[in-house]
Amino acid sequence: MTTSIRTDRRLAVDGGRPLRPPDRPWPRWPVPAPDAERNLAAVLHGGRWAISSPTCGDTPLFERRFAADFARYVGTRHCVPVDHGSSALVVALESLGLDFGDTVLVPALTWTASATAALRAGLVPVLVDVDADTGCIGPDDLDLSVDPRAVVAVHWASNMADIPALDAVTATRNISIVEDCAQAHGATWQGRQAGSLGRIGCFSFQHGKVLTCGEGGAVVTDDDSLAPVLQELRADSRRYRDGRPAPGELDLEESAGIQGANFCLSEFSAAVACAQLGFLDEQHTVRNRNYALLTELVADLDGVRLLQPAPAQTRISIYEGTIVVDELPAGMSNADLATALTAELGKRFYVTDEPLHRSPLLQPWTKPLLAPLAERFSEIHRDRAYPKTEWLAAHTVQTHHSTFLGDERDMHDVAGALGKVLAR
Ligand SMILES: Cc1ncc(COP(=O)(O)O)c(C=O)c1O
Repeated sequence: MTTSIRTDRRLAVDGGRPLRPPDRPWPRWPVPAPDAERNLAAVLHGGRWAISSPTCGDTPLFERRFAADFARYVGTRHCVPVDHGSSALVVALESLGLDFGDTVLVPALTWTASATAALRAGLVPVLVDVDADTGCIGPDDLDLSVDPRAVVAVHWASNMADIPALDAVTATRNISIVEDCAQAHGATWQGRQAGSLGRIGCFSFQHGKVLTCGEGGAVVTDDDSLAPVLQELRADSRRYRDGRPAPGELDLEESAGIQGANFCLSEFSAAVACAQLGFLDEQHTVRNRNYALLTELVADLDGVRLLQPAPAQTRISIYEGTIVVDELPAGMSNADLATALTAELGKRFYVTDEPLHRSPLLQPWTKPLLAPLAERFSEIHRDRAYPKTEWLAAHTVQTHHSTFLGDERDMHDVAGALGKVLAR
């Protein structure tokens, strides 16, 4: 397939005509699922706005329905919904029963929450490099010298970390794998869903995620002993009672096995999440078809490729489409490329989040409560290098998954804009 580059060769960023006419809109995000409005109205008028609200006639909790639906979707025995993906990571790490100050390996290339969650759970995140091909932590990146007790294995952008390979190193050393699936809802590895391969899986349903209810999250696990602990950690030491609550009682009982906090998902959010889940696979199909087409189209451009998953990954879930440019034209950074693409296409392209070893969003020393952890954190990170993370951060541009929710013409536009900008 060829890529058409339209007539005005001057870049839009330099005042030329944009490759894509501004009157051609991109798909909007989020896209409300057909049932979203009906579910929201049911909450609004059903008399139960929180899981800590008393029973009200026969009104069931959307939160409990979502927990069952999402566990089925991921293929795990349990799902505990929470209010944010960050909270999912906090309660997941807390549930492991580690000691204060234990270390947790976290990839340097991820959102800050993957690391701050460890601090909030009383643990020290130790940043490690990632595999240059996938952008995810690989078995060779595990730093066992710091005696880690857990690994937060982030599935990054559209790629999954190789959990079985990580497990081969960690299983015999009593190191738990917590999958951070905030960017990987519905991705599969040899047919198994992200979140079902490690000891615990954590999801975010924040606005930009492929499954969203505005703000929300969930923890999934097959571990029957962890599930009640996770429930208590997220609902002030309460968990669902067995059987039906009596009229006017809560679905929650004060089981009080462990000190919890309130990380509960609102019923409004749960209602939206239930509806959006039914829509997710359809959207995956559209995005993945367009991603495959763009992969083909950019093959015509020297040194440009889309980030591809490891062969064992059987389905991608595109949170961010990642374009890798092996050699950027002289004088052009990937940030310049992102700005130029944004101007050509009227859709935002950007560079990755600042890697965590130099992210301004990760500064535990600013919070007195974290002081002992911060000290150890600074000490451990004094002389570390992240060459593969740095390479990816300097050679990639990304775009939100909604870029892939349209049709073929959109992909031709992206490939055309890449050709136009890189030809300069
Ligand atoms: C990899 C990763 N982990 C955790 C989170 C945190 O999720 P939330 O924003 O719902 O707290 C995010 C959100 O962007 C993320 O991308």
